[in-house]
Amino acid sequence: MGSLSIYLLFTLIVVSTPQQSTEACFTSIFSFGDSNTDCGNLLFILNNLHRISRLPYGETFFHRPTGRFSDGRLVVDFLAEAFELPLLLPNLPYLDDDRRFENGANFAVGGATALDELFFNEKGIPVFLENISLDAQLKWFKQLLSSQCSSGIECENNLSSSLFIMGLIGGNDYNHPLFYGRNFEEVRTFVPSVINAISSAITALIGLGARTLLVPGNFPIGCNSAHLSIFHVPYAEDYDEKIGCIKWLNEFAEYHNHLLITELDHLRKMHPHATIIYADYYQALMTIYQSPEKYGFQSSPLGACCGSGALYNYNSSCLCGESGSTVCMEPSRYVSWDGMHLTEAANSFIVTGLLQGKFTNPPFTQTCFLGKVETIGRNLELPHNGYNNFVNTACSSFPGCSNDDIS
Ligand SMILES: *[C@@H]1O[C@H](CO)[C@@H](O)[C@H](O)[C@H]1NC(C)=O
Ligand SMILES: *[C@@H]1O[C@H](CO)[C@@H](O)[C@H](O)[C@H]1NC(C)=O
Ligand SMILES: *[C@@H]1O[C@H](CO)[C@@H](O)[C@H](O)[C@H]1NC(C)=O
Repeated sequence: MGSLSIYLLFTLIVVSTPQQSTEACFTSIFSFGDSNTDCGNLLFILNNLHRISRLPYGETFFHRPTGRFSDGRLVVDFLAEAFELPLLLPNLPYLDDDRRFENGANFAVGGATALDELFFNEKGIPVFLENISLDAQLKWFKQLLSSQCSSGIECENNLSSSLFIMGLIGGNDYNHPLFYGRNFEEVRTFVPSVINAISSAITALIGLGARTLLVPGNFPIGCNSAHLSIFHVPYAEDYDEKIGCIKWLNEFAEYHNHLLITELDHLRKMHPHATIIYADYYQALMTIYQSPEKYGFQSSPLGACCGSGALYNYNSSCLCGESGSTVCMEPSRYVSWDGMHLTEAANSFIVTGLLQGKFTNPPFTQTCFLGKVETIGRNLELPHNGYNNFVNTACSSFPGCSNDDIS
């Protein structure tokens, strides 16, 4: 049902597009961000010593853990597929070798913040790891550029046909202090600084030759299993009536997004030759939460697929991948993979929407050709079958794993 309607939608778009080009949209993708985009940098830094190095992480698509905080592919993976590029490699494992990154690289690191550690150190807020913030990621990018192009002009030319994905980034700037117990009013005052850090990184990339940038906003974190569990209160007035998300957290995410959108408008005026696309992850996810069954998700979409049985299946003392946690039978019917990160199914939904121009401003369709939308549509059909056999096999090698579906 779901995939049929997606197919029909794509058919409609293809039929109604007058000109179709066969040129590639982008020759490469460079991405920056946190665990929502990381495809192996954190695991490399931590020498594999992290729960995401174990199944069920990666069970859905790669059939092994890859350093992604998901059961399968991330937004950045689906975008690479859609633009017919190979999946990006994390940059850190290759920092000292002369590998060429013809199709781009992924600088994102799980736990990264937009602001650097000085900001948090001054406020007495512990950071997860040093030297992984947006600033550090930008340094790695410059380092990679200087090792790959012989002249500034050559680099600039190449970057003009690259897609830059700036995020998700910023979520941890708020989550870390909030989870550490800092006052919400204080954390709210960080927002302009976070937006500033993102804006500076965008400006620096444009200065280096970037011409197309995709900048995601924050998720509706009030609907996130982890936040729902950590900030649970017995008062109905904190929750929205229809879906059950925590209102003040969603309002906070909207506040961040509002300032980001305003800043992007400003950047567009300063750099009219660059295309800066806002990606509305907030609306994309709210679309699922409002009608989960319509898009193939289960009717109560707020619980995590993998975790352990406290509220919303999120217990910070027994996380997905740790002994005692369990994984659901059908991740494709869940939005939240491990309480903090999305399932492949939710990521695929977001990308499908982005490519249809629904959750983007300006839409990709305005900046890029539509000739390959048919291919994209086929790649991005929401997966529905083929999970169960694999979960059963995967489970036997995963300590504490049980195949009970959590509903
Ligand atoms: C830039 O483009 C040239 C010509 O297409 C190519 O030979 C070179 O490898 C590219 N450099 C990078 C850094 O991708
Ligand atoms: C982070 O970078 C600074 C400056 O380069 C360096 O002094 C510090 O040792 C680094 N910290 C870690 C944990 O690598
Ligand atoms: C969370 O996990 C810890 C460690 O397994 C356990 O002791 C605790 O009871 C769990 N809390 C809830 C609410 O399930």
